[in-house]
Amino acid sequence: MPYSNSPVFTPAQRVQNYRYAIRNIVTHARKLEEQGRTVTYLNIGDPILYGFQPPEELIEANIQALQLGHNGYSPSSGITDAVLAIAEDARKRGIPTSAEDTIITFGASEAADLVCTSMLNPGDEVLCPAPGYPLYNAIIAKLNAREVSYTLDPRHGWLPDPDDIERKITSKTKILVVINPNNPTGEVYSKETLQQFIDIARRHRLLIITDEVYHKLVYDATHIPLASLAGDDVAVITIDSLSKNYMAPGWRTGWMMITNSRLVPDVRQAFIKLADARLCAPMTPQFSIRAAMQLDSTYHDTIVRRLRSQRDTTISMLNSIDGISCNQPEGAFYVMAQIQLADTPFTTDEEFVLKLLEEQQILFVHGSGFGTSAEDGFIRIVYLPGTDVLEDVYTRLATFLKSL
Ligand SMILES: Cc1ncc(COP(=O)(O)O)c(C=O)c1O
Repeated sequence: MPYSNSPVFTPAQRVQNYRYAIRNIVTHARKLEEQGRTVTYLNIGDPILYGFQPPEELIEANIQALQLGHNGYSPSSGITDAVLAIAEDARKRGIPTSAEDTIITFGASEAADLVCTSMLNPGDEVLCPAPGYPLYNAIIAKLNAREVSYTLDPRHGWLPDPDDIERKITSKTKILVVINPNNPTGEVYSKETLQQFIDIARRHRLLIITDEVYHKLVYDATHIPLASLAGDDVAVITIDSLSKNYMAPGWRTGWMMITNSRLVPDVRQAFIKLADARLCAPMTPQFSIRAAMQLDSTYHDTIVRRLRSQRDTTISMLNSIDGISCNQPEGAFYVMAQIQLADTPFTTDEEFVLKLLEEQQILFVHGSGFGTSAEDGFIRIVYLPGTDVLEDVYTRLATFLKSL
């Protein structure tokens, strides 16, 4: 049939349920900007927008790699020195893995995609935290697999309930996703909680994906890598990247590490096949990975000090506003705050977020974009900006709530 002016193609079925609230909501903010209004964006976790930069050592290594002419394709699993450095660091942190079981990817995002694409047939089920980072839901929807949410309960410090997880397991469940520290709740899991995840995976023969892209950004808690507790009979994929832990999201450099790969030899082969077909992750930033793994603690001490102060301002100001409450996050740079929707004219979290944007030009993301119920009134706030910006934002938020 010849082309005409009307649309000829429709999108494939698999993208119909593909949503990513963090970026989708920006369309509304852009419309306000077109009308000449200035918007304060607290929707996306990009540290570079708020004055953070990667460690100097990593930038130097990157520049040097470019100057030395490392501008070709790398091996599809990554350059040897980088996978060796990642595996050495992982073993020091108690994660049993090896360079052969490490694959460098386009950020943690591609690692999640590689694992799910390798493992899931249409109709297979994946247990994901709700609330949780929407990447997993999007990938699962794209594969025509099924996301099954397990609940993180705000009344119990956003912890999972092992019985709830276990009740949701069927013969089709293949993967259990853990995000630690969690985005959007900022919760860091204790050894006991991690052990519960592992016991469930062991009993039901599930593979665990543990997303630890914020493990260096932890305040008063201690981060324990899940794989360090897995023993020798549970297959675990640990996902990590330079994006948040080293504040270099634009370098699109991440990795996955398999623990107990002998339990999943064919799946490991499938990862490599997929990695081969997409050639390689960006080449030059891979040369900064050894510098990242060898960094002393000064860089992270400074960053965590700044983030802690921003978190403290956030918690104390939000909890002092009538009609808002929030828990204290122990990691990452997000907080889920709950609005008493019953005291407002709104029935959903998104209506609240959009009206706040219109009235005060502040952009948060509605909690339902991460899997909470829209009527529960959660919003996710990114507390990356300096305390002066945050104080102004929370003052305007209080004004807005009062005006309702
Ligand atoms: C929990 C979590 N995992 C993965 C990612 C994506 O990381 P990357 O930039 O390394 O793809 C993000 C980004 O916000 C995240 O919050």
